[in-house]
Amino acid sequence: MADKIPVILDGDPGHDDAIAWMLAASSPMLDIKAITTCCGNQTLEKTTYNALRICTLLGIRCPIAKGRPTPMVAPPMTAGAVHGESGLDGPKLPEPEMELEEIGAVELMAKIIRESDEPIQIVATGPQTNVATLLVTYPELKEKIRGISLMGGGIAYGNWSCAAEFNILVDPEAADIEFRSGLPIIMAGLDVTEKALIFPEDFERVRAVGNPVAKVVAEWLEFFYKFHRELGYEGAPVHDPVAVTALIRPDLLEIRDMHVDIETKGEYCRGMTVGDMRGGSTAKPNAKVIMNIDRDGFADLLVEAVKTYSKEV
Ligand code: RIB
Ligand code: CA
Repeated sequence: MADKIPVILDGDPGHDDAIAWMLAASSPMLDIKAITTCCGNQTLEKTTYNALRICTLLGIRCPIAKGRPTPMVAPPMTAGAVHGESGLDGPKLPEPEMELEEIGAVELMAKIIRESDEPIQIVATGPQTNVATLLVTYPELKEKIRGISLMGGGIAYGNWSCAAEFNILVDPEAADIEFRSGLPIIMAGLDVTEKALIFPEDFERVRAVGNPVAKVVAEWLEFFYKFHRELGYEGAPVHDPVAVTALIRPDLLEIRDMHVDIETKGEYCRGMTVGDMRGGSTAKPNAKVIMNIDRDGFADLLVEAVKTYSKEV
């Protein structure tokens, strides 16, 4: 097996963040060096508590640190309507078996990156506040960051406003810093994540694997499916795991090099990821934008991932 990719997972769990972390922890290609939390799907306190419970359930043992309590400029915005009051409503989860690091998320990210012998890959599945703060606070560490694979944005449309996807809209200034950074960015936006649809036959396959993690993941998927069916979706758009899939199974994806600007002003378009689809811009591409996914292969990937967890709690 080639050397593992060292990763830092930053997110706002959140059902799909939790599934993304399950996928990352199941992969022999990734070595999780740290987990950091941000405010988004719920308040920072709730997403951090959820992160500790998820890591307990999955057996992830790495430093975990709490992130920035608010976006860089905008006031906080949460999505309790989607993920519930806890931010991870649904199945009962174990109480945390570990403590948070004393230091904050940005300091932990900087420590891990500074001390690593090889460049660190960041996977960011919530608002991009922590990552952007890392880049502006420790610019000298950029050369030790392998890249940023993020769930966020949408070239064709938004989901929290007509123009903007939630993660980017919560902190457009943060996303703007990332897309101007020159770092290799993989953008898993709504263009692909709303094709990463999971249906009952998929989460029943997950459930049938039968171990404790599989049962919880199936409930997370079912919760997400039921919520999105009420919105008129055919299935559950399982957004965040696509940012992990880009690292471990890029063969399932269709990716385009594109120049993407982040709208930080605009009465109607703040938070929009403005992509140069026609390639006519004089600006060089600054992101690999994922445009399509082999949905069946993605569903199979989630089923195979839960099989790697033990039968014991
Ligand atoms: O718009 C979808 C994104 O917002 C996902 O990352 C979901 O977890 C929420 O953070
Ligand atoms: Ca998320």
